[in-house]
Amino acid sequence: MKENQAMQKLPPYLFARIEKKIEEAREQGVDVISLGIGDPDRPTPPHIIERMEQAIKDPANHQYPSSVGMLRFREAVASWFLDRFGVELDPKSEIVSLLGSKEGIAHISFCFVDPGDVSLVPDPGYPVYNIGAILAGAEPYQMPLTAENRFLPALEDIPQEKAKRAKLMFLNYPNNPTGAVADAEFFKKVVEFARYYDILVCHDHAYSEIAFDGFKPISFLEVEGARSVGIEFHSLSKTFNMTGWRIGWACGNRDAVEVLTRFKSNVDSGVFQAVQEAGIAALEGPQDCVEAMRNLYQRRRDVVIEGLNDMGWRLEPPKGSIYVWAPVPKGYTSASFAELVLEKAGVIITPGTGYGDYGEGYFRIALTVEEDRLREALQRMHDALGKVEF
Ligand SMILES: Cc1ncc(COP(=O)(O)O)c(C=O)c1O
Repeated sequence: MKENQAMQKLPPYLFARIEKKIEEAREQGVDVISLGIGDPDRPTPPHIIERMEQAIKDPANHQYPSSVGMLRFREAVASWFLDRFGVELDPKSEIVSLLGSKEGIAHISFCFVDPGDVSLVPDPGYPVYNIGAILAGAEPYQMPLTAENRFLPALEDIPQEKAKRAKLMFLNYPNNPTGAVADAEFFKKVVEFARYYDILVCHDHAYSEIAFDGFKPISFLEVEGARSVGIEFHSLSKTFNMTGWRIGWACGNRDAVEVLTRFKSNVDSGVFQAVQEAGIAALEGPQDCVEAMRNLYQRRRDVVIEGLNDMGWRLEPPKGSIYVWAPVPKGYTSASFAELVLEKAGVIITPGTGYGDYGEGYFRIALTVEEDRLREALQRMHDALGKVEF
């Protein structure tokens, strides 16, 4: 049996490797605190679970769903979108349901790139942009996200030769792993760039509702002209603590939505309708759970920033996402620092290189453990490292 060339290039998924490390340390009796994986630790709000309980009993939901999603679900998305971003979407032609946004993000490459085409991916970035491009036979071009440029790609630095061959550009704000956010000014430049080079912009908005200090992230689709060049990926995973349910959607450019829907109708059979019902309850129900979640992460963010700054870091609190992205101290690489922290403090942090070459020199902390455990993790790091230098 010989795997194909694309699979030969594919490493095990980052978190599969981290989970293995956690398992090994736990087998040795270490009380590991994992700040590695960005999976919300709190349960799905009860009103969403209750809707699922009812929906699961309805035999109509036991049959194959459609890949595009129930019209009722897409209508709930459209109404939430209008309310949240002031953008009107046609539920019939501009929205498609997804088995979690990861599914759509991976599959969009199969819809728009041919072997030899370029896909513009942020580096550091959520690994699936790169992986989708590789699997579809495209050549990923890494757009560096640097602290100097507020972790936004410098569009003017993308070589013309690459831009001309590019079919897709992936963006993600609030950003995983850097916690950076984007404004309308930046998105306007992206629209211009995409128009000029005829590129489909794929904005990953998985953290659209997780922002702090009163900041409200905008949708890429709010910017004039964005709908002619862009599709946006949304997820219920982080907003409503529903990572295990597998539901999200893509919306925006109707041609792109149509192509993705056609692709999906050939490879999957849609989201379990009872889960879509739960999604409707999430989008149409009370939103105070979302506000409580934001406050929770903001408190945890402050604990981490304060704890790290006490040790010698000089970090600004990130404006969004559920991550803190920080440089490693002098004398370490991302990998050697993450290893040291695991060995000396029993704490898992993610080496920045897991998100691409430009993640070297950084590590990521996920804010998905309770405050007392976070405090303990930071105390252990403090005891193990003392004051750090850069
Ligand atoms: C930036 C980003 N996009 C997309 C996803 C995928 O979310 P889901 O497939 O659960 O909707 C994640 C999950 O961690 C993420 O960090």
